[in-house]
Amino acid sequence: MNEILRLILFLPRQASTLARSVDYLHYFVILTTIFGSFAITVIGGYFVIRYRRRPEDGDFPRNPAKKPPLLMEGSVVVGLFALFIGWWAIGNRLYLELRTPPANAMRVYVTAKQWMWKFAYPEGAQSLSMLYVPRGRPVELILTSRDVIHSFFVPAFRIKQDAVPGRFTTAWFEASSAGRYRIFCTEYCGAGHSTMLGEVVVLEPEVYARWLAGAAPNATIPGPVYTPPAVVGEAAPRQELSLPAMGKAVAARLGCLGCHTLDGAAHIGPTWAGLYGRQVPLNDGTTVVADDAFLTESIMDPGAKVHAGYPPVMPGYFGRLQPAETAAIVELIQSLRDVAPAAPQKGAAVGTPVAGPSLDGVVGGAKPTAAKGQPR
Ligand code: CUA
Repeated sequence: MNEILRLILFLPRQASTLARSVDYLHYFVILTTIFGSFAITVIGGYFVIRYRRRPEDGDFPRNPAKKPPLLMEGSVVVGLFALFIGWWAIGNRLYLELRTPPANAMRVYVTAKQWMWKFAYPEGAQSLSMLYVPRGRPVELILTSRDVIHSFFVPAFRIKQDAVPGRFTTAWFEASSAGRYRIFCTEYCGAGHSTMLGEVVVLEPEVYARWLAGAAPNATIPGPVYTPPAVVGEAAPRQELSLPAMGKAVAARLGCLGCHTLDGAAHIGPTWAGLYGRQVPLNDGTTVVADDAFLTESIMDPGAKVHAGYPPVMPGYFGRLQPAETAAIVELIQSLRDVAPAAPQKGAAVGTPVAGPSLDGVVGGAKPTAAKGQPR
């Protein structure tokens, strides 16, 4: 039944774990409207014939005293309301499922730019336009854009998510069968919008591990082969490099470490030690959780939310960071979340931990902790 409806509706393959649920909702919507409009047409047609005006009627017969039974009216109203609630409940449950990545998801940073997709993997690998993922493992995509709004769409996975400059958005999927699946940009983003294509290559876990180690992906993957545009290439990792290590190199090169320390020592800007996931007091008296979104915003537009007790002297880095570099810095800060500040911060700078591990842990020295979603 699923297969028949999928073919009738011209839907692509169902290649992710949630694709089927999304399609079931789609079928429910389509079938309800088809049966609903069919029933109205048939009943309407019957009434038109049954109660048509006949010559012997004279004036059009009207009998205002005759009303439909209350039970009939009531059941129509209640029925429609129940349909609405049921519809909402199914959709809401699915929406939450689509929006909540499993805790063990592997994180991939996606940077959109005119007109290509760039992917950065937790192990430090990068690729252009081709997203390599292992089968049977949830993948959380953290998307941002370097220029204008793009939208990441993989029809076979039934996911679509905008990539917005200066901001992180997320989406997740778990590919259920190996193969190649098209990526489209579904937000008009300029002259090259229609060429902004890509491909998700779902590899068997052991092939994925080989790819991470630098080998070319198995060329015998089933499915249509997409030929990328000339500007697009791909780069398997050349060296052992992690995102936090890359973040440290980027931060050193750009001079971030001139103001921010990694070991918790007080300096011109807030230390990155133990910062991730904390409540950060702002100079307007409110607080904000130092999550990926806040950290990205603070890199791109530091004036938007200023840490209480620190002068607003940081320049913005919007447009000055390579794709994946922002992600690398955020991952670096995340890897320092369990490093306790070494000395009392100046002003009211020390936030309170929201939850999680004790702060009496490692003092000094960046100890990259296992970021969530490390590969097996
Ligand atoms: Cu990017 Cu359309």
